Amino acid sequence: MTMRLEGRRALITGAAGGIGAALVAAFRKEGALVVGHDLDASAIDADAVLSGDLTEADTCDALPRRAAEALGGLDIVVNNAGVMRRGKATAATDADFSLSMAVNVEAPFRICRAAIPIVASGGKGAIVNMSSCWGVRPGPGHPIYCMTKAAVASMTQCLGMDHAGDGVRINAICPNEVDTPMLRTGFEIRGLDPASAIADLGKTVPLGRVAAPDDIADVAVFLASDEARYICGALIEVNGGKPVG
Ligand SMILES: NC(=O)c1ccc[n+]([C@@H]2O[C@H](COP(=O)([O-])OP(=O)(O)OC[C@H]3O[C@@H](n4cnc5c(N)ncnc54)[C@H](O)[C@@H]3O)[C@@H](O)[C@H]2O)c1
Repeated sequence: MTMRLEGRRALITGAAGGIGAALVAAFRKEGALVVGHDLDASAIDADAVLSGDLTEADTCDALPRRAAEALGGLDIVVNNAGVMRRGKATAATDADFSLSMAVNVEAPFRICRAAIPIVASGGKGAIVNMSSCWGVRPGPGHPIYCMTKAAVASMTQCLGMDHAGDGVRINAICPNEVDTPMLRTGFEIRGLDPASAIADLGKTVPLGRVAAPDDIADVAVFLASDEARYICGALIEVNGGKPVG
């Protein structure tokens, strides 16, 4: 059977994280060559790795070109890296705001801007941005995170429309809760046992469980593949039937 991403070359950010590691494995399983990027890339199991801080403009601007150099071209980018700063606006620091805007909004914008001409040149370009269900409808107590993910959703719709004719499809995934370090640390901060908290949370999901990273990675593979050839500028909610609000 032909693999769905045979011969495609992909850059995945946040590749050392929970969803990122699943993305790298899923893309490679479908035949893609993958460059994994993260702050610390040493544990990433990919065809090539790059490390760097996405709060630095130069790092973001150069990343698609560096990935293309590492793989001999670039067809796919998954803007997956992200941070979550918790708490109401009145408790937020300047650092919470600027870090969240830098990693969650400015970095994917810069990477999209630099990647579009590179991935479009092959004619089968695809960019998948990681938004959130909270980017579509906000939940309580996380205004900065929700604002940044709403910006990613809007950016995806705008760029998806503007560049559909250039040979690149740009879409976003909007997960609800996914069992990763990002979710687990939130429970730890509140003094809860992450395993039992995640099991309890799963009971609130119509499908009966919190998403596993693979549940999100498989949707990213689909969006990057030819099977999604008529999908651009779309926000795909992956929530097990549990919408926000
Ligand atoms: N886990 C969830 O419930 C959930 C739900 C909806 C959306 N998301 C989104 O999915 C994406 C992946 O999240 P995850 O749950 O795997 O989290 P995670 O914390 O496991 O992984 C995030 C990765 O981003 C990297 N990163 C953060 N700041 C960086 C920087 N300045 N430079 C380079 N890399 C940086 C981290 O090192 C980490 O490896 C994020 O964009 C997140 O907002 C997660």
